Amino acid sequence: MRPFHVDLGIARAATLEAPSHDGPASWTEFRPTPMTATGETMPAILEANGLTKRYVLGRRMTEALRGVTMSVAAGEFVALMGPSGSGKSTLLQLLGGLDQPTSGSVVFEGRDISHMSDAQATKLRRERTGFVFQAFNLIPLLSVRENIALPFTIAGQNPSRGELKDRVRQVIELVELTGKEDHRPDQLSTGEQQRVAVARALVTRPSVLLADEPTGNLDYTTGGELLQALWRSCDEAGQTVVLVTHDARAAAYADRVLVIGDGRITDEIVLGRRVDHSAAPLISRLAQIGL
Ligand SMILES: Nc1ncnc2c1ncn2[C@@H]1O[C@H](COP(=O)(O)OP(=O)(O)OP(=O)(O)O)[C@@H](O)[C@H]1O
Ligand SMILES: [Mg+2]
Repeated sequence: MRPFHVDLGIARAATLEAPSHDGPASWTEFRPTPMTATGETMPAILEANGLTKRYVLGRRMTEALRGVTMSVAAGEFVALMGPSGSGKSTLLQLLGGLDQPTSGSVVFEGRDISHMSDAQATKLRRERTGFVFQAFNLIPLLSVRENIALPFTIAGQNPSRGELKDRVRQVIELVELTGKEDHRPDQLSTGEQQRVAVARALVTRPSVLLADEPTGNLDYTTGGELLQALWRSCDEAGQTVVLVTHDARAAAYADRVLVIGDGRITDEIVLGRRVDHSAAPLISRLAQIGL
């Protein structure tokens, strides 16, 4: 079966044959793949193959993921959308090597990370991926600059000199916090605090930035500022971004939206790279598929 590839006609072409909506079995073969404008498959930086995740709590078992196969190309901005409990955070954690799948594999930069030892996975995470959590996890007593430089400090490097100092300055510029370097988190707005968290995740120049509902507790304006910062990191610096959100306005910044339902990817909506992040086409497409 070929992938169901919904194109909104904004950037990329190709509407492929859709699987019939005839029950869960058809979705296990759903393999959304990044494509170029001419319909060629783009090489993946991050791939999930037949991922399942089962949580057992006492006598209760939850099938959080039921066979997810997907890939993300280098430099792509992908959003994962779906109802609460559909498996978005579980999938993001597996993609970032924060947890191991029950079955299936995650291949990141050509290496299977799903069966690495904890020590190997921690090293890879620290060096190659950036994770932005909904709770920003900033250190209250440290300034903006010190919070952002924390990954270097933890690694025993001095971030106040040379190349590292430049990197800290660049990400501060990227998230538009120049002038606020010496503020502590309690001297920042909520949106600014979340942008510090994004800058801290980007300062190590990770191959992939994974963000779980980073705009979840931000108002419309501050959420928009954060999304602009994520989008700039992708569009200007070629950063690969995977964003989990339940908000169509946030997902509309992505090149591609994967819809998750009950532990499976049920739809793919290709928006393409757009300077205008209008959510209207995505909202109408989501309405068509009943979300
Ligand atoms: N550590 C855990 N132990 C047991 N069950 C879990 C655990 N983490 C998640 N689950 C269950 O797995 C399912 C998927 O959870 P997940 O957190 O991935 O959903 P989500 O799509 O991120 O939801 P939300 O939008 O509410 O954040 C849910 O039924 C949840 O209760
Ligand atoms: Mg979640």
